[in-house]
Amino acid sequence: MSLQVVILAAGKGTRMRSSLPKVMQPLASRPLLAHVIAAARRLGAERPIVVYGHGGDVVQQAFAGQALDWVLQAEQKGTGHAVQVALPVLAPAGRTLILYGDVPLISVATLQRLIDAVPDENSLGLLTVHLPDPSGYGRIVRDHGRVVRIVEQKDASDSEKTITECNTGILCVPNRLLHAWLPALKNENAQGEYYLTDLIGMATSHGVPVTAVHPDTVWEVEGVNDKLQLATLERVWQRHQAEQLMRAGVTVLDPARLDVRGEISHGMDVQLDAGVILEGRVVLGDNVRVGAGCILKDCEIGAGTEIKPYSLVDSAVVGGNAQIGPFARLRPGSKLADEVHIGNFVETKATVMGVGAKANHLAYLGDSEIGARVNIGAGTITCNYDGANKHKTVIGDDAFIGTNNSLVAPVSIGAGATTGAGSTISKDVPAGVLAVARAVQKVIEGWQRPRKTPKA
Ligand code: UD1
Ligand code: CA
Repeated sequence: MSLQVVILAAGKGTRMRSSLPKVMQPLASRPLLAHVIAAARRLGAERPIVVYGHGGDVVQQAFAGQALDWVLQAEQKGTGHAVQVALPVLAPAGRTLILYGDVPLISVATLQRLIDAVPDENSLGLLTVHLPDPSGYGRIVRDHGRVVRIVEQKDASDSEKTITECNTGILCVPNRLLHAWLPALKNENAQGEYYLTDLIGMATSHGVPVTAVHPDTVWEVEGVNDKLQLATLERVWQRHQAEQLMRAGVTVLDPARLDVRGEISHGMDVQLDAGVILEGRVVLGDNVRVGAGCILKDCEIGAGTEIKPYSLVDSAVVGGNAQIGPFARLRPGSKLADEVHIGNFVETKATVMGVGAKANHLAYLGDSEIGARVNIGAGTITCNYDGANKHKTVIGDDAFIGTNNSLVAPVSIGAGATTGAGSTISKDVPAGVLAVARAVQKVIEGWQRPRKTPKA
């Protein structure tokens, strides 16, 4: 049976106290809704349906260009009404999974079990969870063990309020039943809303069996209503990701101080020290060590390389057995070959460095091509910007750039050339020569240092 996914995201999220719509609030640096859409896609839904309301423009813009069907629920009349407005885009047959834009961590494994509980058009799957404190949730009413209906907290009798099996809100229903039953929902309840949960009672009266499925963990079904819950769920998710990395063989020195905000692939014996943040797509080869406080974003680090503490790597590729940092900054377009050494307070941008090239201290290398085994002296700057345009610096293999050079681009320095300390190199340097471009030292005899004027 084919699958459609409806994501309810029309809620205002007043308790966030934010100008950003609730489903746009970030968890692991992606909007809550993005997590839910990703789950829907992993289940095979080609065009997840998003029911939106408040802040719809911002939400739609954020997901522009993605295969999604947007359905406006202008007025919020309840969860049943929200799915009703989506009926025109639901096929006559197949089954539909209902998810929530503010329940971001629901796992694909749990949802697959729920979908599997709906093998035909005469079945219904409901995700329920036992909570020690069920207050606020709809309660699952069973009769002789079978789920017969859901009663909302506000409509529940005192004895129903003692039920601890709760409705997560997530359910899977054959489309045929949605088309037949949703238009018949009534809002005769304590909140005057059209309750999606009334579908369960309807299933019972039509003799359609309801299968209750449970999530593997409670946090999967937790919703986010305010910044405190957002932060709590962020920590839960970070802990979970750290655990997955550790199970996969990564040494995480402090799982409470690692943040993964993207997708990591890694080899064996990778070590991550405290305070590391990994963002976007990060690829770490065997034996990579990442020191304390490093931020690695959209990058590839080769086997055996060490990223020393407090380094930033953004959209860069680093080869194997390299040494980066401490306090290094690799900016977008940096491509460093094997065995490159980048030391403290060195910044690279759109720069290629050959095998074994070194810039160990205090340098800016931008828009440059640096050959193998080149040594960049401390304090060297590629002057890549003339105030209007950017220009390139090219340095041949085995060149030695003296300390505190200004390389005024466009400029090229030949293979094996040497430049003297303090040089301002504004003309090309041929291969193999020594170029010195600095004032000749003068000696001034009899010069006196200024003396302090005595106070009056
Ligand atoms: C709902 C369930 C309850 C369950 C709880 C789990 C119903 C009637 N009740 O209650 O059994 O235990 O979730 O959290 O379904 N939404 C819309 N349009 C609407 C109304 C809601 O899009 O008109 C969205 C909201 O943005 C929210 C979600 O649906 O993401 C749940 O709505 P909410 O009003 O919070 O339902 P609850 O009262 O918590
Ligand atoms: Ca709710």
